[in-house]
Amino acid sequence: MMKTIIDTDPGIDDALAIIYALSHEDLSVHSITTVAGNVDVERSSQNSQIILHQLGLTLPVSVGQSQPICYELQTARHFHGQDGLGNTTSEFDFTAGAEYGISSAAESILGLVHDSSDSGVRLICLGPLTNVAQAILENPKLMKRIDQIVLMGGAFECYGNVTPTAEFNIYVDPHAAEIVFSSGIPTTILPLDVTQQVEISANQLEKVATKSSVPWKQFACSITHHSMNVHQLKTGNRRLYLHDPLVVGYVLYPDLFKTIKADVRVETGSSLTRGMTVADLRQPSDNSNVQVCVKVKSQSFLNDFFSTVFGLAQGDF
Ligand code: RIB
Ligand code: CA
Repeated sequence: MMKTIIDTDPGIDDALAIIYALSHEDLSVHSITTVAGNVDVERSSQNSQIILHQLGLTLPVSVGQSQPICYELQTARHFHGQDGLGNTTSEFDFTAGAEYGISSAAESILGLVHDSSDSGVRLICLGPLTNVAQAILENPKLMKRIDQIVLMGGAFECYGNVTPTAEFNIYVDPHAAEIVFSSGIPTTILPLDVTQQVEISANQLEKVATKSSVPWKQFACSITHHSMNVHQLKTGNRRLYLHDPLVVGYVLYPDLFKTIKADVRVETGSSLTRGMTVADLRQPSDNSNVQVCVKVKSQSFLNDFFSTVFGLAQGDF
């Protein structure tokens, strides 16, 4: 079975994505690499350990880059909470004594690719692409052996969520995204265009709280409250987009998605449109190694997400 590394900046939706991935027997998650994004990389690493602890699992966690390639780190603590998990870690923290890999995230990625010539390697990228870009810069030839990169990022035919033109993961490190998209590695992008087609509501989470019996139920519900409050203040709706869990959904069920092959470029210099992902989706580019997800069968995905993460059948949420 292909080995998967999850590169992540947990982050509330990252946490739900990690629970989803590690609860699915069809995915062989080899390890986690952490990156600065929603919070600093130290916090991303501690949060990764907290999530694994909630699942009762131990996996190698390798700490990644603390800063984007060129720009100063801008976090999303306003949305994910100061601790990145909805300001709940005082309730769930245990990380004293947690151990991290001696290799950096980029070294861990390169090491697994080097050692896995038979089984193949997939990267699930849920944050800024700094670590992956670092690995490509260090050994582009070896990284070309990667079978698949599937990532959350970008906005093509919708507004961004940081600026009108940029989505957070790409905005934070546009140089890294440009390196990954032009690397020639088969890459699937899940932009806001498709991730904003799947959300969970406060009402659904209340049903989870009363009907689910998974051990991590309290954790998974508690971490979402802060972001739901932020969303409600901003939009009037208590909901949470499942940006990162949808990346795992694509890996598991690609047939639920419509994709378009495209040459994707990234604005790296402009202060006005930094992080903008640019592609002409009207003109599919068949020889591109990059494809963009533009549509998903949302209910089919949600049915599997709620079933896998919370043990709930359709009709229970
Ligand atoms: O724009 C949404 C993305 O940015 C998600 O991955 C979220 O976790 C943040 O990293
Ligand atoms: Ca993320």
